[in-house]
Amino acid sequence: MTTTSPRARTQPPGKLKQFLSLDDFERAARRHLPRPIFGYVSGAAEDCASLHDNRAAFAEIGFVTRVLRNVSGRSQQVELFGHTYASPFGIAPMGISALSAYRGDLVLARAAAEANVPMIMSGSSLIRLEDVVAQNPAMWFQAYLPGEVEKIEPLIERVARAGVRTLVLTVDTAVLANRENNIRAGFSTPLRPSARLAWDGVTHPRWLVATALRTLLLHGMPHFENSYATRGAPILSSRVTRDFGAKDHLSWEHLALIRRLWKGSLVVKGIMSPLDAQAARDAGADGVIVSNHGGRQLDGTVAPLRVLPEIVAAVGPTFPVMIDSGIRRGTDVLKALALGAKFAFVGRPFQYAAAVAGQPGVRHALGLLADEVQRDLGLLGLTSLQELGPAQLRPIAPRP
Ligand code: GLV
Repeated sequence: MTTTSPRARTQPPGKLKQFLSLDDFERAARRHLPRPIFGYVSGAAEDCASLHDNRAAFAEIGFVTRVLRNVSGRSQQVELFGHTYASPFGIAPMGISALSAYRGDLVLARAAAEANVPMIMSGSSLIRLEDVVAQNPAMWFQAYLPGEVEKIEPLIERVARAGVRTLVLTVDTAVLANRENNIRAGFSTPLRPSARLAWDGVTHPRWLVATALRTLLLHGMPHFENSYATRGAPILSSRVTRDFGAKDHLSWEHLALIRRLWKGSLVVKGIMSPLDAQAARDAGADGVIVSNHGGRQLDGTVAPLRVLPEIVAAVGPTFPVMIDSGIRRGTDVLKALALGAKFAFVGRPFQYAAAVAGQPGVRHALGLLADEVQRDLGLLGLTSLQELGPAQLRPIAPRP
């Protein structure tokens, strides 16, 4: 008899049946979204070398399976920061979600709460974090903090006051990346009103009506709501300046200050070097996310999976090391866990699911990934994630 996860027994509603894997959402989102917006979500820096390596690194690893081990009672639950999550993966932070999906951050937050997986809300977002935490009190908040004490203190105070318990500090954005692909796709922040932008809108009428016009009518012009303690710039503006603050000043001293101010769990995201992982741990962080920002920062940064084992070795087995960038399959989640990750985060596919099918879409996408993990564990001959280790992995020949 085959054991399936509870989710596998619930059929997705009508049109979602066509989505059989996370990548299917990308194909649908490419058609649904105006080019600049799809380009912003899907895009990466310069020649997309890191974006490609993120997938290649997973493709270079294969499994050794075990058999006849009675895998009927398998579980994919994980305990992290005092919370038992249903699956070893969560939703990575993604900026300006509410531009590609109607009330995008709320959709992602609700779907994650329902599935009992973590959702990290981006600080580069268009809905007030207080409104999102009201829908998902367990959500994590990701901040882009500048190296300016007078901006750090009030934002941390605001996040704490909202009731957030886990703060993620992204540290791989010291300077803005070269997102030339965004320029090619016609994307900028704020968006510049132009004939081309209007044309992109009218040629995607479902998005125009159900996301853009509905947002404008019901909520007014979206603004960056959470970069600082107070409201930031509007998303559509002829003044093309986005206030990012002086992030190139951000230093380990600021992390120490943030640790003093923030009483909840503190996660540092964007770590690629074992030395930085140790420094984050020594500064009092409760965990790190090994990440190259989905290939969106320094192009040519290797895939996080390639440095994961040395980072885990450097910080020791009890310090939570998480990973994002390039995870699209249950097998990817399990490869990362076998190499020592405690948790894996997935970004773009959940954003595409929110854009094309709202909360039911994200529910379905989360369910697909959970079903894959559950099935893959059984096929590997394992009943729990704790049994995963490098012994189950081997190099696999790249496809010709
Ligand atoms: C924001 O974090 C982005 O990568 O665009």
